[in-house]
Amino acid sequence: MSVVRGAGQGILAEENTAKREEIVELLTRAYWMEIETVMSYVASSVNPDGVRAQEVIESLAADVQEELGHAQQYASRIKELYGVVPGSLDFKAEQTYLQPPETQTDIVHVIRGVIEAETGAIEHYNRIIEACDGVDWVTQDMVIAILHDEEGHRRLFEGYLREYEAEGKA
Ligand SMILES: [Fe+2]
Ligand SMILES: [Fe+2]
Repeated sequence: MSVVRGAGQGILAEENTAKREEIVELLTRAYWMEIETVMSYVASSVNPDGVRAQEVIESLAADVQEELGHAQQYASRIKELYGVVPGSLDFKAEQTYLQPPETQTDIVHVIRGVIEAETGAIEHYNRIIEACDGVDWVTQDMVIAILHDEEGHRRLFEGYLREYEAEGKA
């Protein structure tokens, strides 16, 4: 008697191979976004100067660990869906907006860069959640939790920006 791996197997079912590959591609992009964010936040949690930079520095230093955790979750899920986590030679940087500013006291530049990075993550993760709907609940559940983190990150940095805007410095 043969075992038929059918619809009851969800995203791991034979007939969902194409969908699985689509999700692995989306997860791979998410993985690279997290990896680049780790690099950018490591630099941005060290470079800024000034008394008012401290809060931003501490937030970003904590976020580095969270974003790294996200990258690890994406990597694990890629493997579970029979994909392969890519090697570093496939990496292509995209975060032009998170390069170090001209002057290291330019905290507004860093805050705006973080908001842009978080917004990009929020947009992409919403896409993944939609792509998973009805077919891959586990990935969907995982990405919803990560999306929650990113929404929290963006809101925090929007709050920092508000303070500078209120003073006419942003
Ligand atoms: Fe993240
Ligand atoms: Fe984030």
